Amino acid sequence: NPLYILAAAFGYLLGSIPFGLLITKMAGTEDIRGIGSGNIGATNVLRTGRKGLAAATLICDALKGTIPVVVIGMMSGDLAPVPAMIAASAAFLGHLFPVWLGFKGGKGVATYIGVMLGLFWPAALIFCIAWLATALTSRYSSFAALTASALTPMFLWYMKAPQLAILGAALTVLLWFMHRENIKRLLNGTEGKIGKK
Ligand code: G3P
Repeated sequence: NPLYILAAAFGYLLGSIPFGLLITKMAGTEDIRGIGSGNIGATNVLRTGRKGLAAATLICDALKGTIPVVVIGMMSGDLAPVPAMIAASAAFLGHLFPVWLGFKGGKGVATYIGVMLGLFWPAALIFCIAWLATALTSRYSSFAALTASALTPMFLWYMKAPQLAILGAALTVLLWFMHRENIKRLLNGTEGKIGKK
């Protein structure tokens, strides 16, 4: 079906826009890839000390997941929810592996929230609540993301959305994989806390 191809292409195209890099470049900070963890996500943008830029990165990286899911979802008719799920996967993969940066992208937290917002918004809400609760108590952004992303597929399963639960579980596996260095640092006690350089 051509809509599947459109979903994959549109999702990837939007997902692969590295907003953290573009926003910090436009604001004239030093290359974000040379700061902190070297990641292009909002957590690392915050390490420049520019909260507004970090918030803009979070919002843009989330919306680039929401927009293709919603647009393709509106076009999918009887095929729903498959085209929207393809758009979600493609946007997420685009963020993790953008061709424009030699496939070295982000870790997927904001884009995970964004695609869930488009697919089934309560899942995005659960993710955010779990992220905030963990981040406020631990001060580790990565630990909060690992926790929230583990809970979200379980929530989707509990809500009787098995297709979305399986998609969520696949995205969670990728998110954990992208956080492998963070996991090592969490285990040996060297992970940086939120807002610290
Ligand atoms: O969004 C990624 C976050 O969970 C960890 O970011 O920069 O600390 O590796 P960072």
